[in-house]
Amino acid sequence: MRKPEHHFQCINCGNHFNKDEVKYLCPDCSENNSSASPPKGVLKTIYDYENLKKEISGFVQLKQNNFIDILPIKNSKNLPNLRIGNTPLYSIKNIDDSKLPFNLFLKDDSQNPTFSFKDRASAIVSAYAKENGFKTIVTASTGNAGSSLAGICASQGQKAVIIVPEKAPAAKLTQIIMYGAKIIPVKGNYDDAFDLSIEATKEFGWYNRNTAFNPFTIEGKKTVSFELYEQLNFTVPDNIFVPVGDGVIISGIYKGFEDLLKLNIIKKMPCIIAVQSNESDNLIRNINKQKFISKSSSTIADSISVDIPRNFYMTQHFIKTYDGKCLSVSDDEIIKASSILSKNTGLFAEPAAAAAFAGLLSYSKNHQISESSNNVVLLTGSGLKDLNSVKKIINIPDAIAPSIKELKKLF
Ligand SMILES: Cc1ncc(COP(=O)(O)O)c(C=O)c1O
Ligand SMILES: [Zn+2]
Repeated sequence: MRKPEHHFQCINCGNHFNKDEVKYLCPDCSENNSSASPPKGVLKTIYDYENLKKEISGFVQLKQNNFIDILPIKNSKNLPNLRIGNTPLYSIKNIDDSKLPFNLFLKDDSQNPTFSFKDRASAIVSAYAKENGFKTIVTASTGNAGSSLAGICASQGQKAVIIVPEKAPAAKLTQIIMYGAKIIPVKGNYDDAFDLSIEATKEFGWYNRNTAFNPFTIEGKKTVSFELYEQLNFTVPDNIFVPVGDGVIISGIYKGFEDLLKLNIIKKMPCIIAVQSNESDNLIRNINKQKFISKSSSTIADSISVDIPRNFYMTQHFIKTYDGKCLSVSDDEIIKASSILSKNTGLFAEPAAAAAFAGLLSYSKNHQISESSNNVVLLTGSGLKDLNSVKKIINIPDAIAPSIKELKKLF
């Protein structure tokens, strides 16, 4: 069977584009983009669902083909040989000795090779670059996307150029350097890094992985939905709690389930709950507004600290189309949730990921979650990536003399 071609549809004007006509944003809508409001023209990748429905018998066949029929690459052999995705889904029964009154599952995406969800996107971008003769991939990043691209490129023998604001957390910068990428810290913020990466793309002909710019990051991220569907015995979860900054991860999750919906594999969408920090809630605060107004963000959860969400319009479209929900939590709740999560489950998540868990805790206090429902929290990154933010709840005790007498005093 010949792999059906994909094409693009602009999330703002709805125009369709041939896959060879554009690579990044819709040319019409992106023309007047400014850094003061969310960019327009992000593209959704569309497959030939009608033909696929005739040719594919169901989910099992899709999986047997490594989902290649609904991915924008030619051959899954071009994906990195690292284990990307296929992360564990843990069932959690109790928290602090209380039995949970609903089913809770934690999807641990810190188990990806570079310890964050971003590897799903980097893998597809890297394979596409390999198939299309790009030797160098550039990205602007606040940390995780850059460390991910650096690691994935290292595994594929590709060159990575990572442009970061100089204040990114040390562990993420260290990863980028250890993976051998060219790291370019800039005096400025993420937007400055983003703009420079676009100029570099034009100047040097590199392939660009920027999130909400390269449409294939969404295609990589959607693979988590396929896994959830399978891990829950071929059912759609009832609720999924997702940490949100720019809105690309959440759009990826929607896109994965939407592909399955369009292929008649599933019949309903999950309810997706977008979780942001109170200190950085630009996406959810503006979701029903006519005019986007940004507030300066200052959350400890650096990965979801975003002033102008770059995938605002697509996230808005998905949340409105599929009745998603929005929720914000305080930084204090995030830190507390991080500690509850670690102590109860053995999973140490970075603050952005702990925000999703804080979202579940807060939601379950204020809403009736049905007893038989399946609820998923997406844990997007490892706690070791940002030790600084939990410093205030960590108290490493003074050393004692190594005697049993001294030890007894502590119990
Ligand atoms: C660990 C982690 N969680 C959540 C997010 C939020 O993803 P998005 O910006 O696509 O909403 C990010 C993005 O950097 C991240 O690194
Ligand atoms: Zn457009």
